[in-house]
Amino acid sequence: MVTARSEKEIELMRESGRIVAQALDAIELELRPGITTKDLDKIAEDYIRSQNAQPSFLGYVPRGARGTKPYPASICASINEEVVHGIPSPKRVIKEGDIVSIDVGAFKNGYHGDSARTFIVGEVKPEVHHLVKVTEMCLTLAIKEAVVGKRLHDISAAVQTYAESFGFGVIENMVGHGIGTKMHEEPPVPNIGKAGTGVFLREGMVLAIEPMINLGRSRKAKILSDTWTAVTADGKPSAHFEHTVVVRKGKAEILTLSRLPKTLLATEEGATIQLAS
Ligand code: MF3
Ligand code: CO
Repeated sequence: MVTARSEKEIELMRESGRIVAQALDAIELELRPGITTKDLDKIAEDYIRSQNAQPSFLGYVPRGARGTKPYPASICASINEEVVHGIPSPKRVIKEGDIVSIDVGAFKNGYHGDSARTFIVGEVKPEVHHLVKVTEMCLTLAIKEAVVGKRLHDISAAVQTYAESFGFGVIENMVGHGIGTKMHEEPPVPNIGKAGTGVFLREGMVLAIEPMINLGRSRKAKILSDTWTAVTADGKPSAHFEHTVVVRKGKAEILTLSRLPKTLLATEEGATIQLAS
């Protein structure tokens, strides 16, 4: 059963989504070579708690996944060939040329928000830069499908078609999900699928859409012995973006949009701050 949320519930989910977005914004402003993934975890956790919310991921045990340890941190920080669920560590130092996917979840007033962004650290290889931009566009195109009257796999097909048109691999064995009072709800939201199939999308359904795209053609992520970190089977870089979105008529509502002023964001040219003259 896929739950459609009431406007009252969505109002509460807007708050959880805002906290997730602003935790990611706080990380975005601090991310630079030399910082550790543990430092980033603390930034997010401190911010989430300052908003009277809890980190959704901390202590999380996936249902039915035997042998998986409770997730030990507030964020996932997945570098280069790591696809998702990288565990923060004081030993893991970000360096120039990395791509870093940061995933954050927050729980407040009974509802979760969930979002991820892949950050480019300094100069990266052109094909890696392209991978990140294409993955972000996959999410944008997918969100355009999250409207009343479309079907679930229209979202999946939008991701798959765009990513594969560049010869990139779409991760098949990890998926997005419904979200609400639990972080992972029905339905699974795959990134591979056939347009015109799957459940019909209804107003108020809330989905965490999260394309995971590889530089190589590999569709497979494998899990390391820490029971969490997912890496590409071929060791090539992977990117990941995620938003929590509400299905609406005509245009989806995104609950986890960044609140950073555009003037603070890095430009293609690498300037970080532009001031009005
Ligand atoms: N966005 C990720 C997911 O939906 C984050 C989960 S991390 C976990 O799978 F530790 F909580 F599992
Ligand atoms: Co998610």
